[in-house]
Amino acid sequence: MNQLSERVILVDHPMVQHKLSILRDKNTSSGQFRQLVRELSLFEVYEATSDLALEPVHVETPVAMATCMQLTGRKMAVVPILRAGLGMVDGVLDLIPAARVGHLGMERDHDTHEPHEYYAKMPRDIAERDVLVVDPMLATGGSCIAAIEYLRRLGVKNIKVMVLVAAPEGIDALLAADGDVRLYTCAIDECLNEDAYIVPGLGDAGDRIFGTV
Ligand code: PRP
Ligand code: URA
Repeated sequence: MNQLSERVILVDHPMVQHKLSILRDKNTSSGQFRQLVRELSLFEVYEATSDLALEPVHVETPVAMATCMQLTGRKMAVVPILRAGLGMVDGVLDLIPAARVGHLGMERDHDTHEPHEYYAKMPRDIAERDVLVVDPMLATGGSCIAAIEYLRRLGVKNIKVMVLVAAPEGIDALLAADGDVRLYTCAIDECLNEDAYIVPGLGDAGDRIFGTV
């Protein structure tokens, strides 16, 4: 893990870099792509939860009493930005099975690259939960910023964003749009192209996860 600034964390474990290289390859199959997205999300959420608060607990082992540590039980939610964010949910739930899942549908307009919200369903107590927004790609940042604005309107205070690949343009926009959010990413790429795709990136994450290429 590489803390690039107070709010940007690069998850660059060798296993992550290796799996991301396979993910980027245009010849990687949809099934393998989906599996890799899940595995990378598990590595990433492990890092994104490294600051969770602990409290002491007394446990009776078969040998003696032990004073151990357990999570303080702060409630969490994972919010995938549909569609591609769905591919990251199972990896997060592998580590945090008790997390609730809120769904937020966003689609970028092909010409303007502006996000259009088409679906939202959140846990009723979302305002009391720590929220992990997940989406493999942070390009212009528009979809992620719209998701955070939506969650802030609902009263969510603690938001972390997990992406797999980010463009510098998207990172700058995200940090400027919200003063508190923390970003976890497995890579920071070079730039965006004229279609607002990340270069070198990995193409259209949603299409590759769901085989709609
Ligand atoms: C992709 C991606 C992000 C968004 C990133 O979704 O999964 O949500 O674009 O671009 P941005 O940072 O410029 O907003 P897309 O709109 O293609 O929908 P999909 O997940 O259904 O494929
Ligand atoms: N959405 C994607 O899926 N890929 C990109 O490179 C940009 C937006």
